[in-house]
Amino acid sequence: MRQKLAAGNWKMNGLGADLAEVDALRAAHPAPASQVVLCPPATLLERMAGRLTRTPYLLGGQDCHAAAAGAHTGDIAAAMLADAGAAFVILGHSERREGHGETSAMVAAKARAARAAGLAPILCVGETEAERAAGRALEVLADQLARSLPDGSDAPLVVAYEPVWAIGSGRTPTPDQIAEAHGHLRSELARHLGAGVAGAVRLLYGGSVKAANAAAIFAVPEVDGALVGGAALRAADFGPVIAALDAAG
Ligand code: 13P
Repeated sequence: MRQKLAAGNWKMNGLGADLAEVDALRAAHPAPASQVVLCPPATLLERMAGRLTRTPYLLGGQDCHAAAAGAHTGDIAAAMLADAGAAFVILGHSERREGHGETSAMVAAKARAARAAGLAPILCVGETEAERAAGRALEVLADQLARSLPDGSDAPLVVAYEPVWAIGSGRTPTPDQIAEAHGHLRSELARHLGAGVAGAVRLLYGGSVKAANAAAIFAVPEVDGALVGGAALRAADFGPVIAALDAAG
């Protein structure tokens, strides 16, 4: 059985005052059955870690560099994230692939660095609207996955299916489209890693997940949880998503 996972990606949002939302979330959901990971901007990692100690909530980074240390101004090494208290790191988000020119080869190198530091990568893949319209969605997912996978080890790995056109748009794929994408990712994972290792990988859906659509998305086969952006910023929005995931478990 794979434990359900709800990951909140705060992206470039959040100041110290917003940590009150973490306190409110913990108060409303002190013992979720699902694993819950909060991924704040780097400036809040240490302070959020302080808020999450001795709670079931876990911490994640939003990106890391592939190198262990060195002359990389503005970048963060995986070991630094771990040192700040992170257990996970989001890698290959489309906002990094598009906005920072990250290739899948770079994502794979980052994933190797994350694992070397003891972090579980949350590897993001997703097709654009044009790629889906051209009937290439599954092919794009398989290609990104194959090139972004770190290696065949059985260290913890999470894969997030995030259709680029569903991120921040309020639009979501149909349950059938999500089921098709996740089924394809699961079988591609099995082809690359073997069925045993692939069976332990959590597959998250991401893109406009909110309280109103969470239950329907979590009912889709092969959906082990969600990677949530906008709705993860406020306890009043993220709490119901966690509750829906717990109910789906
Ligand atoms: P939204 O939930 O805001 O659509 O963002 C999804 C996402 O990109 C999470 O990584």
